[in-house]
Amino acid sequence: MAQPSLNIGMVGHVDHGKTTLVRALSGVWTDTHSEEIKRGISIRLGYADTVFRKCPECPEPQCYTVEKKCTHCGSKTDEIKTVSFVDAPGHETLMATMLSGAAIMDGAMLVIAANETCPQPQTKEHLMALNVIGIKNIVIVQNKIDLVPRERVLESYQEIKDFVKGTVAENAPIIPVSAQQNINIDALIQALDTYIPLPEHKLEKDAQMLIARSFDINHPGFTYEDIKGGVIGGTLTQGSFKEGDDVEIRPGLKITSDGVTRWEPVFTKITEIHAGKSKVKKAVPGGLLALGTQLDPSLTKGDSLTGQVVGVPGTLPPTRDGFLMKLDLLKRVVGVTNESEINEIKTSEPLMLNIGTATTVGVVTSARKDLAEVKLKRPVCVETGAHVAISRRIDSRWRLIGVGVIED
Ligand code: GTP
Repeated sequence: MAQPSLNIGMVGHVDHGKTTLVRALSGVWTDTHSEEIKRGISIRLGYADTVFRKCPECPEPQCYTVEKKCTHCGSKTDEIKTVSFVDAPGHETLMATMLSGAAIMDGAMLVIAANETCPQPQTKEHLMALNVIGIKNIVIVQNKIDLVPRERVLESYQEIKDFVKGTVAENAPIIPVSAQQNINIDALIQALDTYIPLPEHKLEKDAQMLIARSFDINHPGFTYEDIKGGVIGGTLTQGSFKEGDDVEIRPGLKITSDGVTRWEPVFTKITEIHAGKSKVKKAVPGGLLALGTQLDPSLTKGDSLTGQVVGVPGTLPPTRDGFLMKLDLLKRVVGVTNESEINEIKTSEPLMLNIGTATTVGVVTSARKDLAEVKLKRPVCVETGAHVAISRRIDSRWRLIGVGVIED
């Protein structure tokens, strides 16, 4: 399997069928015993990869498949592209995870179950998040059509059309499917192939990767000879990595001495690279990667490096413990039954900020109408001009209230 060339996010309300759909699209049953998976590096990224294929003999959309042999005519199918699915949790408390996942999505499938009225709260909140983060390539999947009569499928289609009017998904195709019964999956692959194009890969730039996960892959009882270095997973936003490259990770490690806390960058070497299900010597942007490093695995354990940035030493954006941002707030809170108005941001209020794959809390130190200065609880490594998804605590939950652009 080639290195995945793009990441497709799965978003939507809880239980609408994201995980089932990933299973239907990735044919995981065909390839669960490869050596790499047994070794446990790639599988822990919480994603699946698949190759979209096309039968040279059959008409559209039946020709689209993930099988190597066409299920209609038995011909050998041709590879179109390899994609990674990023599965975002639908539960409302996991919005921060969804927002950091969205930072690495090149496009998204918004999954909407036909047996419930549309929109459900997180359908709305996730679409708003795609809007805020600027993900424009969207395919709407109308799922569970096997559970309802034809009239309800048509009614649900109209609800979806009304719901997306005036949003980033206004012109997105709506594909009716049953993920569980494998109905219309060929038409869905065709839509994904058409509406989520390959992103532009800035290969000539210095490598930079957003860390989405990090882990310790060693098992209890490993002897010191078996011990593997810390593993980091994420997506390259630019440049390329190869085995043996020296890298820097920022903000790095929190060090407290004499009552003063500072963050120091960490330097290490890439020992191996896994892209999709294969071990590769070199990786380019597209899909999720897992990098084996020489780091002490205790430093990467339990996602402790999530939200940090890895790249060529000396070239990463600055580490900031605060910044000024230009605000663009939503009118109303979405994702709740009672959609109250969003008031202006006030000095000393805490905000949850998602920047790249990082989630941090920022306390507002000064606020004007469309500008806010924040002091961060946990620093981030980010360029001026980057987008920040802003959430506020409302009724004991973080709710997305708008977007900021870092000014300095
Ligand atoms: P979270 O990850 O918890 O947000 O849920 P999800 O959106 O991933 O939903 P999941 O795939 O776990 O599906 C929820 C339930 O719906 C499961 O019991 C599935 O078997 C069922 N389901 C998913 N797709 C279909 C479908 O097309 N038809 C039917 N009948 N059931 C489906």
